[in-house]
Amino acid sequence: MKKIRLGVNIDHVATIRNARGEKYPSPLRAAVLAQESGADSVTIHLREDRRHINDLDLKSINTKLKIPLNLEIAATNEMLEIALKHNPKFVCIVPEKRKEITTEGGLNLNFKKLFLKKVINKLKKKKSRVSLFIEPNQLDIKKAKLLNADCVEIHTGRFCNLVNEKKNFRNELKRIKQAVILGNRIGLEVHAGHGLTYKSAMILSKVKGIQEFNIGHFLIGESIFKGLSSCIKQFKRIIK
Ligand code: PXP
Repeated sequence: MKKIRLGVNIDHVATIRNARGEKYPSPLRAAVLAQESGADSVTIHLREDRRHINDLDLKSINTKLKIPLNLEIAATNEMLEIALKHNPKFVCIVPEKRKEITTEGGLNLNFKKLFLKKVINKLKKKKSRVSLFIEPNQLDIKKAKLLNADCVEIHTGRFCNLVNEKKNFRNELKRIKQAVILGNRIGLEVHAGHGLTYKSAMILSKVKGIQEFNIGHFLIGESIFKGLSSCIKQFKRIIK
């Protein structure tokens, strides 16, 4: 059986850095640590408003990282130009709204179809693997294939919310499974991401055919608890 890959999204290391306008914590350091710890790729989302990852982060991470960088971008001329310039191994096209806290849903594949196709083909010509972030529905899977994407990433937000709230997630899980089966059948690589925790990732890891998970917010938050005690002890040694 093919190994499931883990992409580590480090956007929120930059969120913490930017909250104080300092140079730390460094997203580059987090990217290198993710690589050393067994991540299969590192994901960053360069947003139009640069609220977390910025252009310098992109440049330094893309230069230093040995595992693939997965660059998430909105389908705009500005982002296309940036992606073509830096030529990351992986690109994931995501919807973007200025006022949203996070990427709230999948792409609307009926909107700007010709432009999307152009973006995908230009990136593929430069040998980037192109993924589209979509809702788990059959129509969008078919549309992604027609647009010539290599992969789809299924937005797991709704599923994860149901799991977190201990609500019935069976229908949503079924929708995801059906999307995965169809995606694989028509030759798309299928990924999953958004809102994943230990529990939701465990459930979805049992779905055959998902080749990659991209996980950020929970993983970065959880790492506080894996590291807080050791940092406190170090400060105690320093000031003793
Ligand atoms: N995959 C995509 C395409 C995303 O846009 C995001 C969030 O930016 C993630 C995965 C990671 O989601 P989370 O931070 O909730 O784990």
